[in-house]
Parts: sequence; structure tokens; C-alpha cells
Amino acid sequence: MFSLILPTYNERENLSVYLPKLEEFFKKQKIDYEIIVVDDDSPDKTWEFVQKYSHSHSNVKVIRRVKEKGLSSAVIAGMASARGDFLGVMDADMQHDESIIPEMLSELKDKEIVIGSRRVGEGSYGEMKWHRRILSYGATLLAKILLPIASTDPMSGFFIIRRQVFEESKDALNPLGFKILLEFLAKNPKSKVTEVGYRFKKREFGETKLTGAVMQQYIFALIDLRFGKFISLQFLKYALTGISGIFVNLSGQWLAANYLNSFQFNWVGKDILVPSFAVAFGFELSVLSNYVINNFWTFSDKAKKRIPSFLFGFLKFNIVSLLGFLIQYSTWLFLFQTIHTFYPEFMPDTLTYVANLIGILVATATNYQLNRSITWG
Ligand code: GDD
Ligand code: MN
Repeated sequence: MFSLILPTYNERENLSVYLPKLEEFFKKQKIDYEIIVVDDDSPDKTWEFVQKYSHSHSNVKVIRRVKEKGLSSAVIAGMASARGDFLGVMDADMQHDESIIPEMLSELKDKEIVIGSRRVGEGSYGEMKWHRRILSYGATLLAKILLPIASTDPMSGFFIIRRQVFEESKDALNPLGFKILLEFLAKNPKSKVTEVGYRFKKREFGETKLTGAVMQQYIFALIDLRFGKFISLQFLKYALTGISGIFVNLSGQWLAANYLNSFQFNWVGKDILVPSFAVAFGFELSVLSNYVINNFWTFSDKAKKRIPSFLFGFLKFNIVSLLGFLIQYSTWLFLFQTIHTFYPEFMPDTLTYVANLIGILVATATNYQLNRSITWG
């Protein structure tokens, strides 16, 4: 049996045309099929339409999810309840071409994964807008650079896998965003893959759900697929935030120094106090910006949104940051002094910077752990 999963979000209009069309096609082709619509409680009540439809069409059923959201996890939910030996996925908006399904199924006789591709044989992007094309090319290229995959269209939302591919990798899948096919390819590196070309069609009703947020998720998901064994995604976000903090820190110093110098003070000690204040200002500004970015991005699942807890978190973040500075400073001092004492002849000019860089790395790693357990614990 062939189980076709249609993930949907606001596709009522499309399904009212497409479900009858698909059923007619499968019957004509003598394909033993079931269609599983997985709807995330769409405001346009797609689920309601399919529930009614399924009363008189026993090969169609709907899963309505009320808590979970997301294309990839919807696909997994559909596969988990599918009865077929071959599990297919397709857009519900008629952009994919069902007429290649018989060919895809016959390819599965000696393959494990068959992909409907826009970049092989008869395949094409059709009337897709040029900026979407560039994004699609970019996404594909990035995937190919980072992962050892053979597909020409690894972002395709149109594919069929053997049930066993799903069973063997279901526990390892990370169902974020749109790249569910990429997950199957990456988690089943030994499976035999082939592709069938098709022409991508224009959307008739409704609009795309592929937004900027989905793109960002995609890039991080790729990094996670490639490097997830070594570093966590959250740490990467934390480190990127830290790098942005360096720029904020220096800009803050520069702004404060310029502002203070405009007063042309002439009291004793101004030559050291004024620049010191500028350094402190830059530091605190970067602590603030790091805190805000980490709160709403790195640790977004634990974001502090109410003012009292936000402020209390900021206090904790300040303490951890100061501690981090001490760790950085002690690491630098220790390395520098040790080498100075034991290998006095090995003292290149860059040593102090290398020692400080190591200090920064150590402090970033310890700060990350501290913030994870204390600030956002
Ligand atoms: N259940 C559920 N939950 N379904 C969703 C969600 C969601 O959060 N987001 C999107 N969908 C459904 C849509 O309703 C549609 O049936 C299908 O998933 C694809 O979404 P589209 O919004 O139509 O995506 P697209 O056509 O712009 O993107 C195309 O290119 C992508 C990248 O190459 C599609 O072919 C995608 O499948 C493909 O990944
Ligand atoms: Mn689509």
C-alpha cells in the first residue's frame, strides 16, 4: 500500500480541488493508496473540510494537531500513523506533480528513497520567481557543501521512502522547519536514492509558508546535522552573540570616549578616568546587548518576558559576565606567566594575544554553562 501524507496549513481551498483529483488519479492507475492529511488546526478549518470529506471517502483521513506546529513534525506524525509500505510526502497546494508518482513507486522496487526533483531530467522550477530560485539554489548548495548527499534537490517536499527508512531513523530525526527530506538523507546515509524530474507549478490558492524564520531554522538545522555531534546549536548561538558583543563593546567605548572628550575636562586624573569610563561603558553596553539577544534568541525557549524576571536575569547575567572576565583574565595571566617563567626564550610578540584568545575561549565555554544553569536554568 502507498500512504500519501499531505501536511497542511490553511489549504482548504486547495484540498477541495486536489483530494478528488488525486483519488481519481490513483484509482485510474490502480494504486492501492491511503491519503493522510496532517493539519495544524488551521484557522481556515482545513481539518473540518477533510473530516467531512472522509465520511464518504474511506481512503482519506485527517490528523488534526492542536498543540504542535511545523511542516517536518507534521510529516513525521503522518508517517507514524500510516499503514503503507511506501510513505510519500507532497505539498497539498498542487505545486507538485502527482503524475510522476507511478514512476516513483516503480523506482522503489530496488531503491529506498525516491525524490521528486526540480533539477533533474524533465524537472524545472516552472514559473517560480527569480528570488525564490536563488534562495533555493543557495539552500541546495549549502546542503551539498556541508553534507555528503547525492540529491539535486534535497529541499524537495516531494518524495517517497520505504517504510523501513522511517522505522530505522525515526528516533534520530530532528523535525525542525521544512527540511524533512534532508533529515532522512542525512540519517540514512547508506540508503539507495534516485530522483525523478517534475515541473514545479504555481500556487493557485493561498500563500507560501516558507518565511524568513523558516530559512534561519534551515541554516541552523544544517549546521546541527553536520556538527551536532561536536557542539550544540545553542552554544553556537551563544558564541555568535558573544562575537556581536565585541562590536557593541568597541562601539560603546568609542561613543562614550567621544562624548566625554567633547566636555574638555581639565581636572587631575582625567587622562586615566575618562578612558576607563569609556571602557566600562562599552563593557556594560555589550553585557546588555548580549543579554537581550541571548534571552530572545539563544535561550528563546526560556525567554524572560515579564519585567521583574527580565531584570533579575540581567543581574545574574552581569555577575556571570564579571566572573567570565575574571576567568579570562586568570587564564591569560596563568599562560603568560608560565611561559615567561619556564621558557623565557619563547616570548613572541603575539604571545599575549594568543594567551588572551585562549582565555576568551575558556571564559565563553564556562560562561555558557553558567548562564545555562544559573541565568536561564
Ligand atoms: N501541518 C503543517 N504545518 N503543514 C505545513 C506547515 C506547518 O507548519 N507549513 C507548511 N505546511 C504545508 C503547506 O500547507 C503545504 O501543503 C506544504 O506544507 C508546503 O508548504 P508551502 O508553503 O506550499 O511551501 P512552498 O511551496 O513555498 O515551498 C516549496 O519549496 C520548499 C523548498 O524547496 C515546497 O515544495 C516545499 O515542500 C519545499 O520544502
Ligand atoms: Mn507549496
